[in-house]
Amino acid sequence: MTMSSGWHWYVAAITLINIIACIWLILWSSRQGDAAKGDSDTLDHTWDENLCERNNPLPRWWLYLFVGTIIWGLGYLVYYPGLGAYPGVGGWSQKGQYQAERARIDAVYQEKFATLAALDYEALSQNADGMDIAGRLYGANCATCHGSDARGAVGFPNLTDNDWLYGDSPQVLTHSITQGRQGLMPGWAAALGGEEGVRQTMEYVKSLSGMNHDATMASDGQARYNTVCVACHGATGTGMQALGAPNLTDGIWLYGNSDEALYESIAVGRNGVMPAHQTLLSEEEIKLLVAYVMSLGSSEAGATGAP
Ligand code: HEC
Ligand code: HEC
Repeated sequence: MTMSSGWHWYVAAITLINIIACIWLILWSSRQGDAAKGDSDTLDHTWDENLCERNNPLPRWWLYLFVGTIIWGLGYLVYYPGLGAYPGVGGWSQKGQYQAERARIDAVYQEKFATLAALDYEALSQNADGMDIAGRLYGANCATCHGSDARGAVGFPNLTDNDWLYGDSPQVLTHSITQGRQGLMPGWAAALGGEEGVRQTMEYVKSLSGMNHDATMASDGQARYNTVCVACHGATGTGMQALGAPNLTDGIWLYGNSDEALYESIAVGRNGVMPAHQTLLSEEEIKLLVAYVMSLGSSEAGATGAP
């Protein structure tokens, strides 16, 4: 904090006057006691016939405590910044202390990061220390979209289910996080010949994952699927990770599988955006997060058996 010189003198003067006033008060009150000792230790006034005010000097230890506090206070004001803008002979500052703390933490982290970054992804994803740091990075950077439990939400993929739009090799995950992703599913209402065509294709899509569907509509839809959708979602509907085109056969839905959700996906299209994190996170931090995402998938597989 900086202070104009007017304020500096004002604040410093008030502080000093206060201390001087304290010294005066102590001297004054200790002399009061002595004076009263003369012939009587009671003062002049008396109430209710025999109730009178006594005047004893302050106990010595009490007095010394006061004097000690004042000396300590003066010493403090000489060493630390406290008197207006006077910086103190100790050179201490809040900013300096903060920077020293920061430097100490950075040094600890840098050493930790260097050790961790030397591990391969497999080892890193099993490293308790590394996953601890990564969990915090995840919480600060990813949880808003993918959920604090990483199970995602409508439009935000579940990262624990071993179903991947783009893939889960370390290279692909690194790309997803560093460069971001943009799902590109255009709307197909016109190409499918309007609402009827969309509904037929939708019934076929439902059949791909074994959902209840209208078989007649689905068989008309299959023909449309094979002309319009096959390029991205594949002949059998298992999707294409190079394009981020989801597998339509696995019963896992990014945008939901109600008729309304499916109709919107097909007729209007979907454009999920995963923001690039290359300017927000260091390479080491991204490596930790990749290992973290890998650990999520495998823990799920271990716990419940991934579909
Ligand atoms: C602003 C929201 C948002 C944030 C923040 C975000 N993501 Fe994403 N992420 C998405 C969306 C949306 C997608 C799906 C993109 C798509 O539809 O193609 C995605 C996709 C992904 C994928 C690809 C999943 C797959 O199935 O292939 C990974 C991996 C991923 N995110 C990890 C992360 C990590 C790690 C972080 C934190 C560093 C993060 N995301 C932060 C929204 C977000
Ligand atoms: C150009 C490639 C491409 C074509 C062609 C395409 N899709 Fe897609 N589709 C995608 C991508 C990419 C996504 C994921 C969008 C996202 O991540 O936001 C997607 C998403 C979907 C979804 C949502 C899946 C979910 O999990 O919620 C459905 C349903 C779908 N497509 C059906 C179709 C149908 C039916 C057709 C043909 C009429 C079709 N798609 C044509 C690329 C394509």
